[in-house]
Amino acid sequence: MAKSTNAFTCTACGASHKKWAGRCDACGAWNTIVEEAPLSQGPGRGLGAHKGRAVSLSSLMTTEAPPPRSLSGMEELDRVLGGGLVPGSAILVGGDPGIGKSTLLLQGAAAFARRGANAVYISGEEASAQVRMRAQRLGLADAPVRLGAETNLRDILTTLDNERPDLAIIDSVQTLWSDQVEAAPGSVAQVRAAAHELVTFAKRKGVAIFLVGHVTKEGQIAGPRVVEHMVDTVIYFEGERGHQFRILRSVKNRFGPADEIGVFEMTGSGLAEVANPSALFLSERGQPVPGSAVFAGIEGTRPVLTEVQALVAPSTLASPRRTVVGLDSGRVSTILAVLEARCGIPFAGLDVFLNVAGGMRVNEPAADLAIAGALLSAREDSALPPEAVLFGEISLSGALRPVAQAENRLKEAQKLGFSQAILPDSQKVEGAGGMRINRIADLTRFVGEVFGAG
Ligand SMILES: Nc1ncnc2c1ncn2[C@@H]1O[C@H](COP(=O)(O)OP(=O)(O)O)[C@@H](O)[C@H]1O
Ligand SMILES: [Mg+2]
Ligand SMILES: [Zn+2]
Repeated sequence: MAKSTNAFTCTACGASHKKWAGRCDACGAWNTIVEEAPLSQGPGRGLGAHKGRAVSLSSLMTTEAPPPRSLSGMEELDRVLGGGLVPGSAILVGGDPGIGKSTLLLQGAAAFARRGANAVYISGEEASAQVRMRAQRLGLADAPVRLGAETNLRDILTTLDNERPDLAIIDSVQTLWSDQVEAAPGSVAQVRAAAHELVTFAKRKGVAIFLVGHVTKEGQIAGPRVVEHMVDTVIYFEGERGHQFRILRSVKNRFGPADEIGVFEMTGSGLAEVANPSALFLSERGQPVPGSAVFAGIEGTRPVLTEVQALVAPSTLASPRRTVVGLDSGRVSTILAVLEARCGIPFAGLDVFLNVAGGMRVNEPAADLAIAGALLSAREDSALPPEAVLFGEISLSGALRPVAQAENRLKEAQKLGFSQAILPDSQKVEGAGGMRINRIADLTRFVGEVFGAG
């Protein structure tokens, strides 16, 4: 008989491995691979004789209206959920410890509850008194949220079954403990079992369930990624230490667009919504400085302007620094290689520091041109036109490729007082809305036109 394989799981990314290794080759993390108890084989003989129950099948036609979504009134949260909360859905909220997940979900629970939803908050990490103190500090003590402190999965399910709330928050999934699984709380087996039970419960009883999951650094505690595939919606709460901005980002959503973001500011009295993130991310801009480029981006359904900042300095190191924050470092390496190979502008012997102002993270390839602009501007010590935004993807040949939603990008830029856009020659633009459009065919021409000879 074949032995059960893939009994080793990476606690950081959830990848299965046939044998133990010090480093996960799926995500690159060290010491995160743990052995899982093999799945029980059930009562004998495999499924060859398959004496199951026949499932009743139906047509694709539906007469049912889509379920009504409920709104919290916190617009940033509602948007990231895909336009409100879907009854019976399971939502994973991941993020670093201390980033503000409990704060966000307590505020969210209070907002839903104040609009009439029956909301239950189960804390497995903090005692009820601690959660009450937080509620007091956030000015939510009067919100009709019902609070429990428990980690026993069976007791939690029984409670939810009795209460039948509209939504339940489980903070966090790593503290839960099921008596069905012989493994420590926080282990891959426990976290998966708890998530599976709760997701199944959510579907069966129509209770929307938020599962909080800490991103873990050490390998013994399973991270949120091991349950991503079980839930309907995966949201990460991110932010840089030392910045007060927090970004809620949907990376998967069965009920709405992924990549939608909500922007918050952490204040003494909790998370404040930021309705106009472009203004926020650009507010640190002063006089035109070399190394700064404004990228007109799209996050989900919303245009967001961000500032890409570069610093280029002679290096004393044999292999110069490439420090990248908030951008994909692979993408940055590619752009540096294209600048060198296609435009003859070397960065060898130079340290390169790149980041996005305000702690924002930008993943769009459309940011390529702004990244190249910031790098060139820093290297040439020459500021880009301060009234200009940039967008466009750079191909390996150095050609500029068009990107989606040009009109929305231009509209947002104009709203924030920009009057010029530098974009790919091949970009179709229906209505520039008064913006002056500077079309560029490739990176070499960009260097020539924007920075003189280069
Ligand atoms: N008494 C307090 N006064 C002001 N801010 C606080 C207080 N307690 C916690 N915070 C803020 O809230 C953050 C913790 O948020 P929390 O929601 O507990 O994070 P998480 O649940 O993601 O671990 C802290 O990093 C801090 O910035
Ligand atoms: Mg917490
Ligand atoms: Zn991994």
